[in-house]
Amino acid sequence: QFELSLRPSKISQYIGQQKVKDNLTIFIEAAKLRQESLDHVLLYGPPGLGKTTLAAIIANEMDVNIRLTSGPAIERPGDLAAIVSSLQPGDVLFIDEIHRLPRAIEEVLYPAMEDFCLDIVVGKGPEARSIRLDLPPFTLVGATTRAGSLSAPLRDRFGVLLRLEYYDENALTEIVIRSSKLFDVEIDHLAAREIAKRSRGTPRIANRLLKRVRDYAQVIGDGSITLALANQALELLQVDPQGLDHIDHKLMISMIESFRGGPVGLDTLAASIGEERITIEDVYEPYLLQIGFIQRTPRGRVATKIAYEHFGYTYPEQT
Ligand code: ADE
Repeated sequence: QFELSLRPSKISQYIGQQKVKDNLTIFIEAAKLRQESLDHVLLYGPPGLGKTTLAAIIANEMDVNIRLTSGPAIERPGDLAAIVSSLQPGDVLFIDEIHRLPRAIEEVLYPAMEDFCLDIVVGKGPEARSIRLDLPPFTLVGATTRAGSLSAPLRDRFGVLLRLEYYDENALTEIVIRSSKLFDVEIDHLAAREIAKRSRGTPRIANRLLKRVRDYAQVIGDGSITLALANQALELLQVDPQGLDHIDHKLMISMIESFRGGPVGLDTLAASIGEERITIEDVYEPYLLQIGFIQRTPRGRVATKIAYEHFGYTYPEQT
């Protein structure tokens, strides 16, 4: 798993997402007071914002174990049965990419979530029988990039819905400084802020850039990260001042040059730059929407005036 050591393990160490933290703190406290398992939690939002980290924090704060799995990893009802029947009372079951859970599994999950039991079919044909298995109470923590792609019956079975937002520059700067301390590398405040600025509101990107800038500092510099060194390293990494990387560039320039700014359908756009539609939809587009470079219209995606200007094009004013 990616850099478990950088992940905070207590909610008090988790930077940003104040609303999420305020709510979770109360729900955890209340469940502990009543000596109950925490209600099922759905975490949603763009990738890299700390959904897995929060799931681990929930388990840690509740003093229980966590089992990590993902929607596509659970192929047959037996896979799910094996996991849930090995849980201890109160444990957290984390299912990443829960929107990719096969439908047949979802149906097995409903009674598990609602009544802590499993109905399993054993045998085939006329011999087939359904047996009911009691489970310990547990907390399902589901994570998804888009709550809208969950089926309504599944979504309705979560008692706590928490949306993660992109981080602001201050929070990301704090995260970069915290990670630098864990790496035992010296960093100027302005350098930390520069990395934060170019991290697309995403801690995972901030930590990745920090690691590459640290490499650069150790090989080219004296190991400490100054603003000038960070700028050089980030330029070499082809991360522009807005944090856009070469795929963001390819995407925007394709929209502007090949499709006259749109509207263009997502599949057409994906094919034109040789990326998967789902990657664009989940990873690239949300941030480009957030900073106002792309707009969604019923007929497709449109490049905005500020995107034209950012890439040095003249915006064709509509008449
Ligand atoms: N590392 C990654 N995300 C973090 C966060 N939200 N708070 C503290 N450290 C982090």
